[in-house]
Amino acid sequence: MEVIILPTAEEASQVAARLVARQMREKPASVLGLATGSTPCNLYAELARMHSAKGLDFSNVTTFNLDEYIGLDPAHPASYHRFMDENFFAHVNIPRERIHIPDGLARDVPAYCDAYEKAIHDAGGIDLQILGLGSDGHLGFNEPGSSLASRTRIKTLTERTRNDNARFFTGGQEVPHHVITMGLGTIIESRMCLLLAFGKAKAQAVAATVEGPVTASVPGSLLQFHPRAKVLLDAEAASSLTRAEYYKWVYQNKPTWQIDL
Ligand code: F6R
Repeated sequence: MEVIILPTAEEASQVAARLVARQMREKPASVLGLATGSTPCNLYAELARMHSAKGLDFSNVTTFNLDEYIGLDPAHPASYHRFMDENFFAHVNIPRERIHIPDGLARDVPAYCDAYEKAIHDAGGIDLQILGLGSDGHLGFNEPGSSLASRTRIKTLTERTRNDNARFFTGGQEVPHHVITMGLGTIIESRMCLLLAFGKAKAQAVAATVEGPVTASVPGSLLQFHPRAKVLLDAEAASSLTRAEYYKWVYQNKPTWQIDL
């Protein structure tokens, strides 16, 4: 795991955007795994800026989103379909037919989840997976206790996650209890993982993910097994790490041949 700590979420998001851009330059037909929520918003804004200002070309890119609420129509204001359209897809040139987001209205959920896994496989697997971290340590919507080998499936949200996400549901609407999420086994097969976490509310989950034991009780900790996982943090999210000074020194003193940004 490479832990990169920068003073602000904006600076960390710029580094994440440069990593995504580099992946796309190396392989224009990259398969990107995408997350929703507050965390990747600056990253998506920066990628959209690179597209309009520098011609970063998404025309050969394929995307797979991590998750979606069951029962929400794609047009629902809190659906992840809507989130992705508003925050990213409307601003870049990814062909619609190469965008994949779990269908929260799927009638046969197990069959749909198997087909989603197959679509990822048929696309050649995910080259770079963008991840946020739940305050309870979840990745995607793999809540604590999720099998470390799990695949795309239905999950039940914890009350903590439902409360965390209530801010996206206005007018007294209930946060759904059920979701479709890629599994931890699906996520870990991505060739590279970029985990972003910002703010004080994530500090404990970050410390458990990076420096705690690998355990299904902290799904993020599975990334310790990943050969190419980078964790991008702002100062607040890094504030409970015991080795923060070491990670900062490593990042600031990389040999020139190892600097990849
Ligand atoms: C959403 C997802 C979740 C979020 C996590 C953090 O697609 O995968 O794991 O990344 O719940 O959410 P925010 O960024 O809103 O704090």
